Amino acid sequence: MKALLCTEFGPAENLKYSEIVSPEPKENEIVIQIAACSANFPDTLIIENKYQFKPNLPFSPGGEVAGKIVKLGENVSNFQIGQRVFALCGWGGFAEEVCVGSDRVFPLPDYMNYVDGASLMYNFGTSYHALKNRAKLQAGERVLILGASGGVGLAAVELAKLMGAVVIAAASTDEKLEICKEKGADFTINYDKEDIREKIKEYTQNKGIDVVYDPVGDKYAEPALRSMAWNGRYLVVGFAAGEIPKLPFNLALLKGCSVVGVFWGQFSNLEPKESQENIMELANWYKEGKIKPHVFKTYTLENSAEALVDLRERKVIGKAVVVCNAELVKESLVFEKKEEKSKRIFRDFEEIKAAVGEVIGESNWLKITQNIINDFAKSTFDQQWIHVNPSMAAQTPFGSTIAHGLLTLSLSPRFLNEIYEVKNSKMGINYGSDKVRFLKPVKVNSKLKMVAKILEVIESANNGLKMKVEATYFVENNPNPVCVAELLSVIY
Ligand SMILES: NC(=O)c1ccc[n+]([C@@H]2O[C@H](COP(=O)([O-])OP(=O)(O)OC[C@H]3O[C@@H](n4cnc5c(N)ncnc54)[C@H](OP(=O)(O)O)[C@@H]3O)[C@@H](O)[C@H]2O)c1
Repeated sequence: MKALLCTEFGPAENLKYSEIVSPEPKENEIVIQIAACSANFPDTLIIENKYQFKPNLPFSPGGEVAGKIVKLGENVSNFQIGQRVFALCGWGGFAEEVCVGSDRVFPLPDYMNYVDGASLMYNFGTSYHALKNRAKLQAGERVLILGASGGVGLAAVELAKLMGAVVIAAASTDEKLEICKEKGADFTINYDKEDIREKIKEYTQNKGIDVVYDPVGDKYAEPALRSMAWNGRYLVVGFAAGEIPKLPFNLALLKGCSVVGVFWGQFSNLEPKESQENIMELANWYKEGKIKPHVFKTYTLENSAEALVDLRERKVIGKAVVVCNAELVKESLVFEKKEEKSKRIFRDFEEIKAAVGEVIGESNWLKITQNIINDFAKSTFDQQWIHVNPSMAAQTPFGSTIAHGLLTLSLSPRFLNEIYEVKNSKMGINYGSDKVRFLKPVKVNSKLKMVAKILEVIESANNGLKMKVEATYFVENNPNPVCVAELLSVIY
């Protein structure tokens, strides 16, 4: 089989794409045919002999894989050949196959593709454990996330938002911060050009930060610690910038805050029940579309050293993923495609007329991010704080900002376009709406969809057809509509 091998400790450029023998499982071991393997920060250290685990040479980096079981060792009774799984193997993942202890292998749910399966657990598991079990994060609290566009950082942004916090994301470029906003960050700090303490004072109206999530360390730690609120929790997650900060202890006294260590691997060993509970919650959130790993780029196995170079050079946003078997990955994407709603196709105007009174379909879900709300506020000059100021909005009964009612309505052309298509039509104009009612607020990060029913069609001038469509908008997990409108359009 093919594998990317570390034959001598050193930088990623020294790794060699090689042919080696396929592994054979010993007792309690499983051999997985790897579909995808993600790159994590420890992979950049392990090849330089700077990590806590030191495998014997030669070995392949790559500690988080998803794929299919091809061989079972003796005494493995709870898995089957052909089963889809993911595994935290430590190393060996930048290869076509890997041999792993069965206690590190987990069934991959059928709704999860292999790329996500290889990208979810390490980052989301760490960040959820940190925010839930270590910080005991409460809705409405203010969280600062350093290195917010990195693997664990971006997962923390998405999870903290989902847990109802006000999220301040800090990273080194505006491009990285844009993605953080898409994942739910309410505020951003570019710590390469902005002052961390000043921005925190501004964003929190001098109240300070309740929870700091720090996977970076180095020079960013002290200003973050100095910005903490009373009873705050400073989460020590990692030291990606290299230097382990030595902080003045008096700050913990003055701030009345706690410095809390996070070690996800040890948590899963020592508290397996709690860890399993977290994994189930994360899997459910993934299934409901509430969390999703952000895949920065995929790499072939032959070029997989580049993934580690990109990680080392701070280029990666979210996850870098090596596709070890393109066929398996493609196969696993089929499920997601099936989830996309298929369009209703009308071949001519007669078919539209025949559909009067019918529900013709529903759109896909669209997540209404703070970014979308901010853009709408900017273009309509409607900057009311309930839409654009997350920390003030967090104090209201909504608990977060809400979308403008007209923003929901303005998405109608997009949704209609997903719902139906008229073949051979030259032009369609959505020219108005009638009887619009906004029934419930749409909170930030809700998922919105439209259900469309044709109410009426009339022939109009220039061989056109006027349509009246009843559009009903829903947010996820709520059977009651948030908005109902009659949309008017004409097709030529
Ligand atoms: N405690 C635990 O249980 C646990 C679990 C998983 C990971 N970790 C640790 O958490 C840290 C982050 O892991 P990750 O997978 O999220 O890594 P990552 O994807 O590489 O993200 C690290 C982030 O740190 C920032 N950074 C600042 N200076 C850097 C430098 N000199 N080199 C590299 N990055 C730098 C980068 O963002 P900017 O460019 O925006 O600054 C980067 O996005 C690592 O130390 C890892 O070992 C700990």
